[in-house]
Amino acid sequence: MGESLVETVKQALRSVRDPVGGRDLVEAGLIQGLTARDGLVQFAIAVPRERAREMEPLRLAAEKAAAAVPGVLSVTAVLTSHREPQGPRPGGAGRAGPAAPPPAHGHAPRAPHTPAGQGAMLLPEVRRIVAVASGKGGVGKSTTAVNLAVALATQGLSVGLLDADIYGPSLPQMLGTQEKPRTENQRILPLQRWGLKAMSIGFLVDAETPMIWRGPMVMGALEQLMGQVAWGALDVMVVDMPPGTGDAQLTMSQRVPLAGAVIVSTPQDVALLDARRGVRMFEKVNVPVLGLIENMSSWCCPNCGHRADVFGHGGARAEAAKLGVEFLGELPLKLEIRELADAGTPIVAARPESEEAADYRRIAARLWDKLQGAPAAKGPRIVVE
Ligand SMILES: Nc1ncnc2c1ncn2[C@@H]1O[C@H](COP(=O)(O)OP(=O)(O)O)[C@@H](O)[C@H]1O
Ligand SMILES: [Mg+2]
Repeated sequence: MGESLVETVKQALRSVRDPVGGRDLVEAGLIQGLTARDGLVQFAIAVPRERAREMEPLRLAAEKAAAAVPGVLSVTAVLTSHREPQGPRPGGAGRAGPAAPPPAHGHAPRAPHTPAGQGAMLLPEVRRIVAVASGKGGVGKSTTAVNLAVALATQGLSVGLLDADIYGPSLPQMLGTQEKPRTENQRILPLQRWGLKAMSIGFLVDAETPMIWRGPMVMGALEQLMGQVAWGALDVMVVDMPPGTGDAQLTMSQRVPLAGAVIVSTPQDVALLDARRGVRMFEKVNVPVLGLIENMSSWCCPNCGHRADVFGHGGARAEAAKLGVEFLGELPLKLEIRELADAGTPIVAARPESEEAADYRRIAARLWDKLQGAPAAKGPRIVVE
């Protein structure tokens, strides 16, 4: 049944023509990775990078054509760009070297203003949007984002959790669900979990599929996770950012009114240098850095609960002071945090009585205060000036 829907959608896409070549999208070979499951249709349109902006109307037309097919509930079309189209490369036989590196889009000149016609800011009904970021992967960003989001929800706030990592989404595992989102009125309903509304590209595509999202047009998919999801009114949205300082960061800072960013860091110097990059990145785009969290700051013995400093704990606190950002708090390296996170039951929800759950709640409370524009708290534990 999915098969025939794919075929019908393909037929429908033949009605959309590329204004440049005059050929239809299918004939021109621009449609990639077309899938249809339970009425959720996804595909990518491969475009040359320099034409990406002007291709947006084409993307919308393709989406509309696919959405009109009976049986289709929701359509997600993204623009992907590749240096060369898939298939045989001209003169490729003699060039056996490694693949060309991806375009260094980190250095691409950035449009000084939101280009005309790009549309209004997304997520107008969300009061505060906070990015949880770091300079590199594996520091515990997703774990922190999920636990902070759950902690904010336990304060009675309406909370959204957006997984902005298109290449390596974490939420399906961290929230412990394989559930597929339903759609209503052409919009995707976020999943409800641990008192949160959550959305991730991982809920929409199979684990093997995300390859098709690769390329510099990640922002297309990310924008759709914001614009096409029925988030509704929220007090706060926590965004689990992908590692690094690339397109997703830029998209977020340009397309939604980011209230601020929280940088997660481990005590190791290398990670701290990365944290500094993360801080600078947000400063460059005028997003306030709300603070730094030190994750895996000490080691917590699984037998006696004793916390030992194995990595020279405290580096992030000193670094925060140097960078002039608030130190929001620290979490130990604790087996239980990992086990619970990876089992889909964040520690704040599963062990609310634990010391670590209290740490997350305290950080979340401070964060929420800051988001209200509150002056810095006086407690010695959290604030370093
Ligand atoms: N404080 C912690 N103690 C123990 N394990 C942790 C802690 N924080 C994160 N982890 C584990 O480390 C791994 C990487 O964390 P993750 O949140 O996915 O990092 P990131 O999002 O920065 O890549 C995961 O297996 C996670 O469960
Ligand atoms: Mg992550």
